[in-house]
Amino acid sequence: MTLIEAFLKNKSREPLKPKGHARADSNIALIKYWGKRDTQLNLPATNSLSINLDGKGTETTLTPLNATEDRIVVNGKLIDNKSDFAKRLIQFIDLFRAPTHRLDIQTENNIPTAAGLASSASGFAALTLALNDLYDWQLDKKTLSLFARLGSGSACRSIYTGFVEWQKGEKADGSDSYAVPLKTDWPELQIGLIVLSSKIKSISSREAMLRTVKTSPAYKAWPSTVSDNLTTLKKALSNKDFHLLGQTAENNAIAMHETMHQATPTINYDLPETKTIKQKIQQRRKEGLPVYFTQDAGPNIKLIYLKSDEMITKKAFQLAAFT
Ligand code: PMV
Repeated sequence: MTLIEAFLKNKSREPLKPKGHARADSNIALIKYWGKRDTQLNLPATNSLSINLDGKGTETTLTPLNATEDRIVVNGKLIDNKSDFAKRLIQFIDLFRAPTHRLDIQTENNIPTAAGLASSASGFAALTLALNDLYDWQLDKKTLSLFARLGSGSACRSIYTGFVEWQKGEKADGSDSYAVPLKTDWPELQIGLIVLSSKIKSISSREAMLRTVKTSPAYKAWPSTVSDNLTTLKKALSNKDFHLLGQTAENNAIAMHETMHQATPTINYDLPETKTIKQKIQQRRKEGLPVYFTQDAGPNIKLIYLKSDEMITKKAFQLAAFT
């Protein structure tokens, strides 16, 4: 019996409601997930830690469809079922449903898709929660996190709000690899988005991780870097030490991109504007503005700052969203 079969034993694979509906926030990792120990099951090489973006993410509605194919609509646009995006979505849903059953899938993102803005995280989390609603599984969040992980690793963290840690787990079947919410509440901590490009990324995070793990000499040190960074970041969270948190998150993102730079062929998500903005952030910090950055698998930059500095931060940087 597979893990999914075990979790869905005695549960329906046919819709029990006329509609399934859910929304999920996107999340930004302060300590990154980069590299898998199992590529099929999206099992990570290390733990990771994120903050959810309040109100920014994905809303998904599922309606049973009397047809031979699914119908996928994202932000009002019908998606070709032969596209990679649709194939990935359908493959995920197929893990859970009765084979002949088709769905109308309506998805609204209020963040740009696939530009390193974690839309796959909120997308697969919302889809998992919507399936749980439609089939009336009534699963606990731990199981939903585990299911969402199968769509996109970072999606397991978007099942929760606030600060979340994804435990990598040890087991080969992934039954102990899911996210857990942390007790910290720190509403003053803000993430701002600096959009430099909304284009689809040059290389998917999936492919980039694979290449990094396989070819980058710098990847050897990554697990111990993450382990050290996690300890420090948790200390920063419990002491509400903004500078320690910001510096640790920034260092972690820089270290992640360094592992990619050393891959063969090299992977570089930076646009010239990305480099300029990172330098500006570090320069402004030297001048006394308490700001730090993090960066995912894309050219856009996320600014880390405190609510009390919002006015001055917005004046210094063009913040597009999340605030
Ligand atoms: O979940 P994926 O496959 O989209 O990978 C996410 C990878 C990063 O965004 C770079 C890091 C992270 O932990 O979110």
